[in-house]
Parts: sequence; structure tokens; C-alpha cells
Amino acid sequence: MARKLAVFNMKGGVAKSTTAYNLAVGLVKFKKQRVLVVDIDPQGNAGAALGIPIWQIDFQLKDVLQHKTPIAQVVVSTASGVDVVPSNILLAEEEIPISGRPGREMLLKKAIAPVLDKYDFVLIDCPPNIGVFAINALMASDGVIIPVDMSYLGLLGIQGIERALALVREQLEHPIAIAGVLATRYDRRNNLSKEVLDALTNHFGDKMFKTVIPETVKIREAPSHGQSIFEYDPNGVGAIAYRDLVNEVYKWQ
Ligand SMILES: Nc1ncnc2c1ncn2[C@@H]1O[C@H](COP(=O)(O)OP(=O)(O)OP(=O)(O)O)[C@@H](O)[C@H]1O
Ligand SMILES: [Mg+2]
Repeated sequence: MARKLAVFNMKGGVAKSTTAYNLAVGLVKFKKQRVLVVDIDPQGNAGAALGIPIWQIDFQLKDVLQHKTPIAQVVVSTASGVDVVPSNILLAEEEIPISGRPGREMLLKKAIAPVLDKYDFVLIDCPPNIGVFAINALMASDGVIIPVDMSYLGLLGIQGIERALALVREQLEHPIAIAGVLATRYDRRNNLSKEVLDALTNHFGDKMFKTVIPETVKIREAPSHGQSIFEYDPNGVGAIAYRDLVNEVYKWQ
């Protein structure tokens, strides 16, 4: 049965999508895993970074959530070997209608159920908020990967993340685990990066991934070439770090 992981942080720009798509490609490439990426962010970044022309797709996640199209018809296979359920801005128009539906928190969990036996990992790329889509992602997942960027505001956001996870566990009675907190965009020339990493490690202890993702231009450039960091700069520090993360996530049960 697939291990389902949401890549979640309400803060924007912390490398949720970057982590989701590079991790997905790495799990295929280095561990021969069958991986599905579900993009539940109307920005559509995870699908786009995996080479899907998100403005020209016939079907997308919103069609599955609306019960219009079976999920198998929406899955797109990409050159990297990763399968994707893509989204684009049309998903945003569904947020209010979905928010009024009974069982609204469980729509994604039910939607992906028919394809779970085809995958070893399902990675869900979340939007930068705690609306109905992010809750759906958490309810559909066994664990959460929390990328945190090395900034003061990144650190400040931790309380909000913990509150959201408490809501899911206590109010919605879903025992989601923290698969790991991931330090992202680490700049070793910058004292703040070190201070934020120390504070995160003090707070989360062994819930921190050992891997730290460095800030590098190559990671930023890779999606514009339709490539993961493993193709774009295979020997660089970014690829080495994301490969280390692949090893850690692979071991997570
Ligand atoms: N390690 C890194 N080094 C340099 N740039 C990075 C790194 N990680 C991510 N970026 C860049 O930072 C920006 C934000 O990353 P990304 O889109 O993955 O964040 P996000 O958390 O998914 O954002 P959003 O909240 O908008 O969904 C992107 O331009 C991305 O290429
Ligand atoms: Mg994103």
C-alpha cells in the first residue's frame, strides 16, 4: 500500500513544490519506487515543474474532486517516470463550493483510494494556506513533510503549523505523523540560517530530517528547463542534498 505524504507549510515560498517534485523524481530514479504526485495547489507548480503543460490539460484534480472524472483518467505520466494528478487555477474556483459540501475534508482521501495499490508513494503538494485543500491533503496522508525556510518568519510560522496538525488530529481524529521537518534554502554564509536551523533542531529534535537543503541557483533554475535537480545539475550540492532526502524518506514508514 502506498505511503502518502503531504508536503505542507502555510508559509509561501519555503520549497514545498521544489521538494515534492525533486523527491518524487529521486524516489523513481534511485529507489525504483512507483510515485504519484498530487497537486492540490491551484498554482499548479509541482505538475508544471514535472513538464506538464498545465494550461492545456483536459482533466485535472478538480474534476476528480467534483466526481466528474475517475482519477485514473486524470493521471498524467511524465518523462521522469513520475505520475501526476495536475491542477491549475481552475481548482481555486472550486474552493468555495467544496467548502460547503458535507464530508468536504475527505474528498481527496476518497478520490485517490482507487489508485493507491499502483503506487509506493503518493506525494501531495499543498497550497500556502490552511484552507479546505490543505486540510484535504492532510486528511489523505499518513505523514507530513514540513519544509521550513531559514528565515525569522519561517520560524514564526511553526506555531501555526502545529495548530493545524492538532486540529487534524483532535477535531478530525486523523492521527497524522510528522515524517520530518526539512530545513530548506540554507545559506551557510548567513548567520540567520544557522540560528534558524539551531532553533528548529531544538524544537523538533529527532523529527528534523538530517538532510539540509542548501540555497542554490541550480535548484531555482531546474524547473525552467523542465528538469529535476538530478538531471539539471547531477553533481551539485542541491542534487546531493535531495538525494540524501530521498534516502531518508524512503526509510520512513
Ligand atoms: N534550495 C533552493 N535554492 C534556491 N532557490 C530555491 C530553493 N528551493 C526553492 N527555491 C526557489 O524558491 C521559490 C519558491 O519555491 P517553491 O515554489 O518550491 O516554494 P513553495 O513553498 O512551493 O511556494 P508556494 O507556497 O508558493 O507554493 C521558487 O522560485 C524555487 O525555485
Ligand atoms: Mg508550491
